[in-house]
Amino acid sequence: MPIAILDQDKSTVDILSDLIGEMGQVPHPFTSKDKFLGAIDPKPHGIAIISDDFTDVIEGTKQVYPTIEIVAIGEGSGGDCLRVGASHYLKKPFKANEIKEILTALLHAPRKQEPFANGAFITEDAGMKKILEIIHRVAPTQAPVFIQGESGTGKEVIARHLHRHSKRCAGPYVGINLAAIPDTLLESELFGYDKGAFTGAYATRMGKFELANGGTILLDEISEISLGLQAKLLRVLQEKQIDRVGSSSTISVDFRVVATTNRVIEEEIRDGRFRNDLYFRLNVIPIRVPPLRARRGDIVPLSLHFIEKIARRENMEKKLLTQEAKDALRDYSWPGNVRELENVIERSMILTEGAEIAPEYIMFGMDMPAAPEAAPAAGTTIHAMEKNLIFSTLDRVDGNRTKAATMLGISIRTLRNKLNEYTSEGQFSDGV
Ligand SMILES: Nc1ncnc2c1ncn2[C@@H]1O[C@H](COP(=O)(O)OP(=O)(O)O)[C@@H](O)[C@H]1O
Ligand SMILES: [Mg+2]
Repeated sequence: MPIAILDQDKSTVDILSDLIGEMGQVPHPFTSKDKFLGAIDPKPHGIAIISDDFTDVIEGTKQVYPTIEIVAIGEGSGGDCLRVGASHYLKKPFKANEIKEILTALLHAPRKQEPFANGAFITEDAGMKKILEIIHRVAPTQAPVFIQGESGTGKEVIARHLHRHSKRCAGPYVGINLAAIPDTLLESELFGYDKGAFTGAYATRMGKFELANGGTILLDEISEISLGLQAKLLRVLQEKQIDRVGSSSTISVDFRVVATTNRVIEEEIRDGRFRNDLYFRLNVIPIRVPPLRARRGDIVPLSLHFIEKIARRENMEKKLLTQEAKDALRDYSWPGNVRELENVIERSMILTEGAEIAPEYIMFGMDMPAAPEAAPAAGTTIHAMEKNLIFSTLDRVDGNRTKAATMLGISIRTLRNKLNEYTSEGQFSDGV
C-alpha cells in the first residue's frame, strides 16, 4: 500500500522512504505541501506520515479524508497534531523500529470505510437518466455546475458522481454546507486564515477552497449566504485566487465549483437576496433534480437499494416488499424526497420481524412536522406560537437546524435570527 510522506526535510523523507520500502510498501515522498495536497487520495493512501510543520495539512487531510490514518512526526510535543486528527505522534529523533511498529499496526488494522463510499446512483426514470448523461458529458470539463432541487432529492449524490467522473477524480472533493455554518465563521472556513488573524487563530489554517485545490468544491445550499459573502465568492470564482483572512498575500487555487440550492433561485434573485452576477457564474451547466413524487418509477428501485444497504450495514437478511407495500410507497407524496424514503425503509426494516416488510411498519410523515396537536388557546400571541413551533420542530430533529428550517419552510438564516431573538429575550440562555 502506498504511504504518503510529507516533511520539509529531504533527508527525513529519504530515510522514511527507505524504511517503508524495507517493509515491502511503496513510499510516496513529498517535501512540498502543495504537491502533497494535490496527490493525497484515500483510495491508495491509507496512511500518511506528516511533519508537525504542517499541522494545517494534517487537519485539512483529516477533514476531507477521515479514513486516512495520519502519523505525525516532529520536534515539539505533538499535542497540536493529535488535536487536529493525527492518530500517532513520534518525536524526532526516533528509531526505525518505532515507526515500523506503528506502521505495521496501522497496516494490519482493518481499513475504515469511506463514509461516502456508497456511490451508487439508482434511477429508472428517463428524466434522471438524461441528467446522468449530462453529468457524464460535462464531468471532464471545467464548467461550473448548478444543481437545483428540493431537499433530499439527491443533489449531493449527483455532485459527488460528477467529481468521480471528472479528470479531477484523483484530486480532493471538498463539500461545505453553507447553511450549517454561522456567517461569522463562514469566511474563515471558506478562505482560511493566517496565524494571528484574530484571537484564537493560533495556527494558519487552510480554507475549503485551498483544500479543494486540484479537485472539486461543493458549495451546498449556496442561496443561504449573505450578500456580502456572495460578493467575495464572486471574486474568488472570477480570479481563482483567495486571500486568507488576516493575510496580505493572495493564493492561486485550481478548483471546479459545483453549487446547490433547494430554493427557487430565480425568486431569490428577483427579491434581491441573491446576486445575479454570481448566479451567472455558477449556472453554466444547470441541473434541475425533480422531486421524488415526479418520478414515481424510482420509488421501488430506490427502496430495494436501501433495503440492501441497510441489510448490509446491520448484517441482517434482506426483506421483501409485498405488492401492498410497494403500492403504498408509490402512492405517497414524499415531501422529504429520497432522504425521507431512506428513513422510512430503514425504520420498517428494523421494526419488521418477518421476511416481508409489513405495511403497518411503513410509517409516513414522521420526518415532516406534525400538524398542531390542539388548537392553540386564544390569547396566545403569534410570537409565542411561532417560538413553540420552532422549538418543537428542533426537538423532533435533534437540534439539526438545517432540517428544522426545511420542515418549517423558512431559511436557515431566518431560523438563526429567530433563535438569536429568543436568546436575547433571555428565556433560553442555555445556548439553544
Ligand atoms: N439516486 C439515488 N441513488 C441512491 N441514493 C440516493 C439517490 N438520491 C438520493 N439518495 C440518498 O438520499 C439521501 C439524500 O440525498 P442528498 O444527495 O443528500 O440530497 P440533497 O443534497 O438533495 O438534499 C442520501 O442518503 C443519498 O445517499
Ligand atoms: Mg444536500
